Amino acid sequence: MLFMHWNRFLKFAGSFLAMSGCTLGSNTPVASDLDSAAYVELGKSLFFETAWSKNGAVSCAHCHRPEFAYSDTLSMAGGNAFGVPARNIPSLLGVSLKSTLNWDGGVRSLEEQALIPLHAEGDFGLPPAESLKRLQGKDYLSKCKPNLNLKTAVTALARFQESLQLPEPLIDKDYRAGLVWFKNKNCQNCHAGPTFSDGQFHRLKGVKTSTDLGRYRITGMPQDSFAFITPALPTSWLSPPFLHDGQAKNLHEAMQAHGLEFSPAEIQVLELFLQRLAGMGAKKNSSATPQPPFL
Ligand code: HEC
Ligand code: HEC
Repeated sequence: MLFMHWNRFLKFAGSFLAMSGCTLGSNTPVASDLDSAAYVELGKSLFFETAWSKNGAVSCAHCHRPEFAYSDTLSMAGGNAFGVPARNIPSLLGVSLKSTLNWDGGVRSLEEQALIPLHAEGDFGLPPAESLKRLQGKDYLSKCKPNLNLKTAVTALARFQESLQLPEPLIDKDYRAGLVWFKNKNCQNCHAGPTFSDGQFHRLKGVKTSTDLGRYRITGMPQDSFAFITPALPTSWLSPPFLHDGQAKNLHEAMQAHGLEFSPAEIQVLELFLQRLAGMGAKKNSSATPQPPFL
């Protein structure tokens, strides 16, 4: 299984490189000082760093763009030499609340996740030692003696990503009306909890399938074919289009993928609800009708 492969890789990389640990301001190797602000700061610098990619132009933020809730507004990205299919980029806001990562749940930690783009051809595409070498002399590594190692780098990236919070919802009459509608339609059977996701995998009735088998890639169980994780909703409006491959350009299409047909008035209720969940609304933003960032 792919995720076993990466788990083993991380373990190997961690034990191999821990011996030449980087320390930040103290003699404690940062890898055991997980909450430090220095860690988050280092992770942030690395997240925006392009120097460690093969062509010198790719960073995590290249795809996970801060202005779109650390996602983007394209349908799909990625797809790499490890056979990971191209997919709609998930937002990283609130990512620490998720127990499995990626649309198929094939990755279980942020540290493990970071290794995939870092070393995949088509993303960063360099072997670990080489990519780290390219960071030598960077100002933000001045406290990092003697060298940054891979374990520290992925741990710092993880701590930074954990610091990215979900948007604060705007609670007003549109939020309340939306929530009542949402509950009445049993959306919470799957979109439940703080992220509005049960963390489970479902194949929606009306979803258009492709060569991407979804959860099946991980479990190999036929009933998991074309099943994808229930996405978090507070960031949905900030990074359209919707669904694992961006096949739904609007909420009407997203609902059709669920096998559901709603009137324009109901779609409007849902739209306002998703905007409020994302912290957007008439009260906060003086322009009367909030527009999604892609229009
Ligand atoms: C080429 C575009 C691209 C780059 C560069 C990229 N990512 Fe991603 N990222 C994606 C895509 C696409 C997915 C979804 C993959 C899937 O579901 O299989 C993803 C998924 C993730 C996830 C899982 C989120 C979730 O909610 O499940 C995390 C975490 C993540 N990326 C972090 C990073 C970090 C850290 C970097 C930099 C080291 C990075 N990404 C670089 C495109 C990219
Ligand atoms: C059976 C579980 C289930 C139920 C019930 C359900 N959803 Fe979903 N929802 C999903 C899954 C799974 C996806 C992603 C499917 C995919 O990408 O193939 C999804 C995707 C979405 C998306 C797109 C989010 C994004 O960012 O891409 C929206 C919006 C959404 N659902 C809203 C709703 C609403 C509103 C209801 C109630 C009318 C509802 N869902 C009921 C499981 C469910």
